[in-house]
Amino acid sequence: MKKLIKNGTIVTSSDTYEADILIESGKVVQIGRNISEVDAEVVDATGKLILPGMIDEHTHIESPFGGTVTAPWKTESVAAAIGGTTTVVDFALQPKGKTLMDGVDRWKQRAEGSSAIDYGFHIGVTDLRDDVIEEIPTIVKEGIPTLKVFMAYKNDLMIDDATMYKTLAAAKDEGALVMVHCENGDLISLLQEKCIENNQTEPFYHAVSRPIEVETEATYRAISIAEIVGAPLFIVHVSGDEPAEVIRAAKAKGLPIYAETCPHYLLLTIDELKKPNFEGGKYVCSPPLREQRHIDALWNALKDGTIEAIGSDHCAFNFNGQKELGKDDFRKIPNGGNGIEHRLTLLHTHGVLEGKLSLNKMVDQLSTTPAKVMGLFPAKGTIAVGSDADIVLFDPSKQQTISQSTSHQGLDYDMFEGFETTGAPTDVFLRGKQIVKNGQFIGQLGDGQFVRRNAFGYCYDTIK
Ligand code: URP
Ligand code: ZN
Ligand code: ZN
Repeated sequence: MKKLIKNGTIVTSSDTYEADILIESGKVVQIGRNISEVDAEVVDATGKLILPGMIDEHTHIESPFGGTVTAPWKTESVAAAIGGTTTVVDFALQPKGKTLMDGVDRWKQRAEGSSAIDYGFHIGVTDLRDDVIEEIPTIVKEGIPTLKVFMAYKNDLMIDDATMYKTLAAAKDEGALVMVHCENGDLISLLQEKCIENNQTEPFYHAVSRPIEVETEATYRAISIAEIVGAPLFIVHVSGDEPAEVIRAAKAKGLPIYAETCPHYLLLTIDELKKPNFEGGKYVCSPPLREQRHIDALWNALKDGTIEAIGSDHCAFNFNGQKELGKDDFRKIPNGGNGIEHRLTLLHTHGVLEGKLSLNKMVDQLSTTPAKVMGLFPAKGTIAVGSDADIVLFDPSKQQTISQSTSHQGLDYDMFEGFETTGAPTDVFLRGKQIVKNGQFIGQLGDGQFVRRNAFGYCYDTIK
């Protein structure tokens, strides 16, 4: 049956206006004032903002990582839906010695039938053999036009500069985009050993062993390699001032560099890592949380367009049994935190309501630009005739306090515990099907579909 959303205010990355939306067969088929359609279920959006479904381009769901496995699709996709996210692009990893497609197939098997929302995959390149380079055109044709490389995690995921060059060159030929984790893994390994030699084993030393300089240096190196190749580059989870400055300078030179930060880098400081009784371990992620000056710099970088996307880097491990693996040695704490559920409401509270972002800019950075860079636009990331009816009704005055006890992630703690938020999704539609009603999940695991994404060149010119 058709659906007609009436009486709300549509907010896209460029416009805010009152109009009704008619949905048929999962798509938006008409937008206009006072649409009267007898043959449709009417959804009243009085007092609500109508947003495109949020796109989270950076998640690690049900992923083996750091010697353990992150929280599963069946909980995290529901948490995402309740938080207003209708599509995630998750990081699949090439198993060492295997093909890229092996990695994708493993991730697809886990998500299929278990995801409440749509999903795509990036493929993390861990073992770039010649046959793997030859596989890149196939992987792009399969709808996976984004490759990920890690400059950190020595002896595990880290690649060297030559591999980065080769990955960028092969990706460029196919119109694929390389995403990069910028931290100097060699130096981190050395600094970690020094800490351990000095008996500095607590979570705080995770941050000490990963100073901003290791991120700044790697950011500069990654951009330099991309410049030599002449390829675009997407820098994930930028955590501070100097790396943002390097990106700003690269953009000023006209280089096609794109960047993302995450809610935890905008809202939490390094002090969290000092919490007693190993509680600091809950906040161990890479790059690490940093001082207030970096937070201020990141908000400025969002404002001036140096950073254009805000992904969650949701990589959720329980405190009990998982984070605890590093109780006696911070190097063994699985890296990562949560954010898949709270991204929109946190950015509305601390971005829009504190005057740091306009509503349109929030939509742009959480949905439209990620959709464009990830090859999902215009089917996703906007509300337009012909786009998927991935739609969020958002109550801008709804007050909540974030707590593990009320969050829907499959986790025994919440990095944002106690944060008071204003504004929350109330109703969420995935390709026209209502999956969240009055803040409650009413969809089904398996509603989510694998989304084949377009190669990067497809929307290159539309990204500002
Ligand atoms: O600490 C983090 N960020 N964990 C997830 C993996 C990554 O590096 O993105
Ligand atoms: Zn990373
Ligand atoms: Zn990540």
